[in-house]
This record gives sequence, structure tokens and C-alpha cells, in this order.
Amino acid sequence: MKFEITQIGTIYSPYITKEECPIQGVTKPDGKGKIEIFPEYEEALETIETFSHIMLFYIFDRAGEIKLSRSTFLDDSPHGVFASRHPCRPNGIGISIVRLERKNKNILEVSEIDILDNTPLIDIKPYIPKFDIRDNANNGWVEPIKFHKKPENRE
Ligand SMILES: C[S@@+](CC[C@H](N)C(=O)[O-])C[C@H]1O[C@@H](n2cnc3c(N)ncnc32)[C@H](O)[C@@H]1O
Repeated sequence: MKFEITQIGTIYSPYITKEECPIQGVTKPDGKGKIEIFPEYEEALETIETFSHIMLFYIFDRAGEIKLSRSTFLDDSPHGVFASRHPCRPNGIGISIVRLERKNKNILEVSEIDILDNTPLIDIKPYIPKFDIRDNANNGWVEPIKFHKKPENRE
């Protein structure tokens, strides 16, 4: 099946290149961004300011070659892309949990962002610890890895 998805807004961030963009927002909590929701969707933001964090769903519009298994930013071993957060995947959809700092009409100011400037936004959902935290979850193959800086020469 094929599906049609409509852009609902645009994500703006200080990150122009992939090299300067963090691997995950938690590694650079002060990274600030702005989300512009197109005016026809503004009503859908009602009460969103009651949440401290939101989940952004967006298109990896500058992803490179799609490979089903590859090494990641985190280590040299191959991992299936469904076992990683790598941007180059069959359906290039990204999910980022960001802190919602402020809402002003159809503009959301956020921090903890790991998204390139000018990225097309396709959905927003609130991050709700009561629903989203699993006390018994593990970190899979990521468990032993310490990551703070993106390795160079990795797409
Ligand atoms: C490892 S992904 C993680 C993204 C998200 N938190 C997730 O788990 O789906 C983060 C990297 O995606 C890349 N990226 C961000 N926005 C992108 C875009 N619009 N197109 C292609 N790559 C992008 C950047 O290199 C960034 O460092």
C-alpha cells in the first residue's frame, strides 16, 4: 500500500549540516529550535502547552543512501535500520522528543532538538510519561556505548 502524507509545518533549528547536528537531543539539551505549524492546523495545538515535552514526527528529507543494515553513529558493527535510529531508512520518518519551552499561536519554541534546519514536520504528539515510560525497558545493543560527540565522516 502507498500512503499520502501532508506536511503540517516546518522545523527550524541552528543545525545546517549533519556534522553539527546532535545524534539525539539529550546529548545537547540547550539546542534550541522553532516549530512553525501551518495556520490551518493551529487549532490542533489547543492545550499542548500543558506538556513539558512533545514528540515531533518528521521527514528525513536530506537522508543519504538507504541500506537495510549498516553501522551507525554509535559503533562500527552493523545493525538493521529497524534496530537503530539511523536517518537513512526505507520510510525516512524521524521521531524526536523535545522540550516545549513556549507556545505563541502557531509557533512552538523548543529545546533538546536533534533535527536539521528547515525539516518538514508531519505530526506532533504529547510525550506522556504515564504512557511512554516502561520501567522494565532495556537499551539493547546501545547499553555499553557512551556517546557525547558525533564521530566524523559518518553520514
Ligand atoms: C540519529 S538521528 C535521530 C533522530 C531522532 N531522534 C530519531 O530517533 O528518529 C539524528 C541525526 O539525523 C540527522 N538528521 C536530522 N534531520 C535530518 C533531515 N531533515 N534529513 C536527514 N537527516 C537528518 C542528523 O545527522 C542528526 O544528527
